[in-house]
Amino acid sequence: MASESFAESSGHEKAFNLLESSTEMSVRQSMFERPIVLVGMMGAGKSTVGRRLAGRLGCQFMDADRVLEERMGVSIATMFDLEGEAVFRDRESALLAELVNEKVSVLATGGGVVLSDANRTLLQDRAWVVYLRASAIDLWIRTRRDTSRPLLRGSDARARVTELLTQRAPLYEAVSHCTVDTGRQPVERVVDQILQHLQSPEST
Ligand code: S3P
Repeated sequence: MASESFAESSGHEKAFNLLESSTEMSVRQSMFERPIVLVGMMGAGKSTVGRRLAGRLGCQFMDADRVLEERMGVSIATMFDLEGEAVFRDRESALLAELVNEKVSVLATGGGVVLSDANRTLLQDRAWVVYLRASAIDLWIRTRRDTSRPLLRGSDARARVTELLTQRAPLYEAVSHCTVDTGRQPVERVVDQILQHLQSPEST
């Protein structure tokens, strides 16, 4: 009943009919209560996996950093340059508090969102949080040519990735309801694993 009224009210009938399997259907049903939020380090694949996951579920995908960039009219790197990291973190937290209310959605967050106690509490209480885990070496390989991430600028990005992962891994673990290794496996396989976890959360 709830699903029908959602489909009617938000015009998602088509997507709803396209759901491929009972797994997608059962996850989708549960999403009427909470959005799915992806956390993890820079380069973990949150945006790529999130977009594909939302496609499978026929629901909205949002990338918090891209939303912030659109609203501010500048890149994240420019925000860091002009206002500093602390102001960026405040903006990031305010946006998270807003976007976490978007039910029936998949949200990719910036890698540092877990640094704030308040953000972690909000995520644990209001979302299904999936930690996309990858090793420091894989993260470094994926981000090494990217100049858009202010925290990885400079000569020793590899050491920086290791340092950030060491600091943040316990926070990602603490805030998440399940963990999926992104490693070197295909995106579709990562999505399958997320759907399985979300379908039977007690088994995670
Ligand atoms: C950051 C990660 C970035 C972006 C900002 C800070 C971090 O997002 O929010 O550069 O502290 O790890 P991605 O994880 O999407 O790269």
